[in-house]
Amino acid sequence: MTDWQPVLLDASRRVQKVADAAFRGRKRSEILGTGASGDKTLFVDRRAESELINALSAARDVRLLSEEKGETGPKHARYLAVLDPIDGSSNFSRGVPFYCTSICIFDGRRFPDSTHALVRNLINGDVYYAERGMGATKNGRRIQTSRVARISDAVGGVDISATSRKVVDELAPLLAALKRQVHFGANALELCLVADGLIDAFIDVRGKMRVTDIAAAYLIAREAGAVVTTKSGEEPNPALNLSARFDCVATANASLHAQVLSRLNSFK
Ligand code: IPD
Ligand code: CA
Repeated sequence: MTDWQPVLLDASRRVQKVADAAFRGRKRSEILGTGASGDKTLFVDRRAESELINALSAARDVRLLSEEKGETGPKHARYLAVLDPIDGSSNFSRGVPFYCTSICIFDGRRFPDSTHALVRNLINGDVYYAERGMGATKNGRRIQTSRVARISDAVGGVDISATSRKVVDELAPLLAALKRQVHFGANALELCLVADGLIDAFIDVRGKMRVTDIAAAYLIAREAGAVVTTKSGEEPNPALNLSARFDCVATANASLHAQVLSRLNSFK
């Protein structure tokens, strides 16, 4: 059995080093090409990915699914590591201080099979960590979602970037009902803010979310008490590959969840 926590921590520290150097250096916004998921690959995306791949491959018996390189490693490995080397690349390239690295271990090949997850805030080094059934922590201390149960009191992260007019129209009832809407540009970290009780919901119904974006934060949020479904209220179960796209509706508790889902499904 692999003891994943030190492996994930070490991997995230390595990413911290290369991200810090790239953020300060001249290559902060250098684009190297297009990654396996179809997005532009920055210099930092590639450097961070190499660090993660090196750190995780050393653990053996692990296949990797990463945003830039796609699938690598032994096909029939016992574990799968789903990686987003830098979440919030657009923030990074512009110098906006909100981005993270995200690592999730699976002991099966379905989305609910995640067992260990780590998201590291690369601005302040905060480490969000969870193991299935063991709760979630930030820097080793237990975290929990907020108790905000009324939508009119809720602060929600709503990702409306690069989406269609139709999706914006569908979101209007929700946006009008929330106390405050925010979006910071790194969805994994935003979902960790829900886990930590700092915001009350995170919603992305653009149909653009990939498993690499959210796998780790999903386990962390669930372990912290969040309710996470698709827009239609089902448990997310996307295929573990780079082609799958899905919706994510995450809220602090069941009462808030019902109110958010009803606003999301009320558009005629
Ligand atoms: C992006 C961020 C962003 C979201 C994009 C994602 P990336 O991840 O999470 O908030 O709006 O859809 O692609 O590309 O920086 O890893
Ligand atoms: Ca990324």
